[in-house]
Amino acid sequence: MDLTQDFTLLLTLIVSCLILYVSIKRFWSHGNLPPGPAPLPLLGNVLEIGRGDIVNSLMKLSEKYGNVFTIYLGSRPVVVVTGYKLVKEIYLDNGDDYLNRGEMPAWTAFYKNYGLVFTNNIQRWKELRRFSVSCLRDFGFGKRSIEVRIQEETCCLVEELKKTQESFIDPHQCLSRAVCNILFSVMFGTRHEYEDKDIDTVVSCINESFVIASSAWGQVYEMFPGLMRFIPGRHQEICHLLNKLNQYVDNRVQMNLKTLDPNNPRDYVDAFLIKIEKEESNSQSEFNMKNLLASTLQIFFSGVETIGTTLVYALLVLLKYPDVIAKVHEEIDHVIGRNRSPTIQDRNYMPYTEAMTHEMHRFTDLLPMGVPRKTLKEVKLNGYTLPKDTNIFPMLTSVLKDPTCFKYPTEFNPENFLNEKGEFQKNNASMPLGAGKRNCLGESLVRMELFLFLTTILQNFNLKSPVAQQELDITPNVSGLGNFPKPYKIAFIPR
Ligand code: HEM
Repeated sequence: MDLTQDFTLLLTLIVSCLILYVSIKRFWSHGNLPPGPAPLPLLGNVLEIGRGDIVNSLMKLSEKYGNVFTIYLGSRPVVVVTGYKLVKEIYLDNGDDYLNRGEMPAWTAFYKNYGLVFTNNIQRWKELRRFSVSCLRDFGFGKRSIEVRIQEETCCLVEELKKTQESFIDPHQCLSRAVCNILFSVMFGTRHEYEDKDIDTVVSCINESFVIASSAWGQVYEMFPGLMRFIPGRHQEICHLLNKLNQYVDNRVQMNLKTLDPNNPRDYVDAFLIKIEKEESNSQSEFNMKNLLASTLQIFFSGVETIGTTLVYALLVLLKYPDVIAKVHEEIDHVIGRNRSPTIQDRNYMPYTEAMTHEMHRFTDLLPMGVPRKTLKEVKLNGYTLPKDTNIFPMLTSVLKDPTCFKYPTEFNPENFLNEKGEFQKNNASMPLGAGKRNCLGESLVRMELFLFLTTILQNFNLKSPVAQQELDITPNVSGLGNFPKPYKIAFIPR
């Protein structure tokens, strides 16, 4: 053996010992976390969850380790919580202790802790949340004015679908553009024609980044963010797409700035710009350009792909269940007729359609792992002590399909929301939007949009598939951060 070989061997030994020391130290420092599968040093539980199917892997592990267990994404421990009772404890019963946002490397690296959705600076979140809730309410959230806006957009969508002349199309673009327009009007005060290039760019960038983040690439990035930043692959596109969207939002903000009237805010961006001006002398203020850009983009991002995908998924599920369509058609014809647009009030007289909408929201299970949370202080959960800053996955899928809460947990069946008399019945375990103080900011908009879009489409059209009903596959195509439907074609046949 020559000197160089000796040296290489020694170096390898030292580096290995260092890695082992650092890993052991990190694992010990996480204290009394709930048990889970034994992690490998640095690699964590890559063997158990590294196959690009994180949701099913975690649900399988919960069968072995129970409702609360720890997994290691690389060297980062995450406590996985399943089942209605314990997820409710995190969101509601002890919600204040879990208010921080958990780490999501693909997004946090880009936003650098700015903006409302992904920040884990609790003071920043409080300020931005309070402002955004009140501002979005001023611009119509939960009110009649946004209902009118949605009705106008559903009319445009119906015209657009009629133009397809009963041919088989992929409905994704049409639907995403329609829901994108609703948020455009609230955030930037404008609407775009469906052929417009801007809306096309925004919708495609949001969709692509969401799909990549949910794919195997996105999941490996979640586990090894430090390493993956330097390795080529699809995950690198997320940052590129977010940059493109950020550039777009930046341009829109500059346009608003040029025509801003401080006494007459037209949209969310105007209201934020006015707030920045008001707090100019406060050096600690959270109302600055970085938070404006990040919050606007994050709200936009959260609101477009989510509802768009839910609607696309919903139409696929409806194709599979023509008997459900028939019952909804009957109710629409009885309560609304064909000559006026559906309204939110109609929900009160349409228990089956209301149940179908809730069931669709539950069954499509858009964010199966929720959006991660983090403990604000040391907390007790199911007999374990979790230190401050522990990452939590509140597994929404396990709540939405909890067999103790739903009659038909794994199948699509509107009866999950109907009582014996055929009346609509709420179910507290139906929480696809999370719950508590950090729940989905778009809740009122989501509920209005899902009902109005689905009833307007079914009021105007019969749905037709090019393949036989039994061949339609309604299981998700990608299941990670988000559940996406398998691509399909549909024809809209005027009624
Ligand atoms: C089907 C549609 C949607 C689903 C399934 C959905 C689901 C969720 C979920 C699970 C969370 C995390 C909640 C938590 O941690 O408790 C969330 C947060 C959020 N959602 Fe939605 N969402 C949808 C639509 C929207 C829309 C239309 C908007 C637009 C305003 C929106 C804006 C937000 C924001 C801003 C947050 C972060 C709230 C915070 O951190 O304070 N979402 N959403």
